[in-house]
Amino acid sequence: MNIDNIKKQFPIFNNKVHNNDLVYLDSANSSQKPQVVADRIYDFYTKEFSNVGRSVHYLAVAATNLYENTRSMMQKYINAKDPNEIVFTKGATEAINLVANTFGQKFLEEGDEILLTELEHHSNYVPWHYLRKLKGIKINFAEINNDGEITIESIEKSITPKTKMIAITHLSNVTGAILPIKEITSLAHSKNIPILIDGCQGAPHLKLDMQDIDCDFYAISCHKMYGPTGLGVLYAKKKWLEALPPYQGGGGMIREVKKEGISFGDLPNKYEAGTMATAQVIAFGESIKFLNQIGIENIEKHESELTKYGEEVLRKNNSVKLVGNPKNKGSVLSFTLDGIHAHDIATILDEDGVAIRAGHHCCQILHDKLGLTATARASLGVYNTKEDLDKLNESINNCKKIFDR
Ligand SMILES: Cc1ncc(COP(=O)(O)O)c(C=O)c1O
Repeated sequence: MNIDNIKKQFPIFNNKVHNNDLVYLDSANSSQKPQVVADRIYDFYTKEFSNVGRSVHYLAVAATNLYENTRSMMQKYINAKDPNEIVFTKGATEAINLVANTFGQKFLEEGDEILLTELEHHSNYVPWHYLRKLKGIKINFAEINNDGEITIESIEKSITPKTKMIAITHLSNVTGAILPIKEITSLAHSKNIPILIDGCQGAPHLKLDMQDIDCDFYAISCHKMYGPTGLGVLYAKKKWLEALPPYQGGGGMIREVKKEGISFGDLPNKYEAGTMATAQVIAFGESIKFLNQIGIENIEKHESELTKYGEEVLRKNNSVKLVGNPKNKGSVLSFTLDGIHAHDIATILDEDGVAIRAGHHCCQILHDKLGLTATARASLGVYNTKEDLDKLNESINNCKKIFDR
């Protein structure tokens, strides 16, 4: 893999930040965009624009074909059985809300339980929380171990006869723990419980095969996959999309509308109400091509080597405390520095052109459990190098010096 060539495809790296080269270590938040994605959005708006799925004129038919082509590309990318199992949403947050809302409406009753983990992003907690008031359900949390991992034993211990859904992250956006999702799915199914995977951090970094994992739902955030903002994907098994009610009502998702009643459209239209993020979907096709050209196996290998290198470098730095120590770890390095608030760390690193994130990373439950209010987080993408991690370490030392003065 030639990282120089890959980096050249991202125009953002031509810019200086505070007169320094940009070291972008915030890809778990959102990834940078290759030129082809930006160009595709521009070309679509300037040469090909039309709304999709409505008119029969030339531009409308061509745009609809492009839109549906991305659906098929995504189906292949994650090896879903059927293109109609791919629903476009405005983000992973909306994908999880869609499931919580429709599954809750149809299948949950007072006293039922949902099993989450202590690692969950607020996007995979708050949508279920609404059902506590609305339906009188209970939420349980599988506990992390001392390394910031979720084991199959922890999930098994937390399942009760009332568990009606398991909703867990694929890869923690704080500790980097990769959960054994295939084993957890098999355990869930052995007890007749459906499972939703929050794949926001899994999809940009790991090879995905929906038929092999066999999960019921998998939520994806396209802006973390070198794609446009305002777009997500919900993968859902066809049987669920057929069984669940629509999430939102409006144009495009109906078959027949009468004063007396309404019938809904076929899949996946039933879940795509109103004008969709057309340009984003079409441009996301370029992100999938970009990922395919490099090869997800190569990305996994590159990022895994970088993560190990980053861990080594930061462990040697006595001031740094890494958060979590999972055996199977994705490309997230969260840390604290004694006596320095995470926001101060991020501000000082920014002066050196090093972009990281600071805060609770939308995981307050996890931070409470760890007894921390905030952590600093460096997260990797395909364009990062060992030099970026050396620069991170150098900048951390600089930060220490400023505070020790
Ligand atoms: C683990 C996890 N889940 C959910 C989300 C929300 O994704 P989106 O921005 O697509 O709504 C994020 C984004 O930070 C995330 O990291």
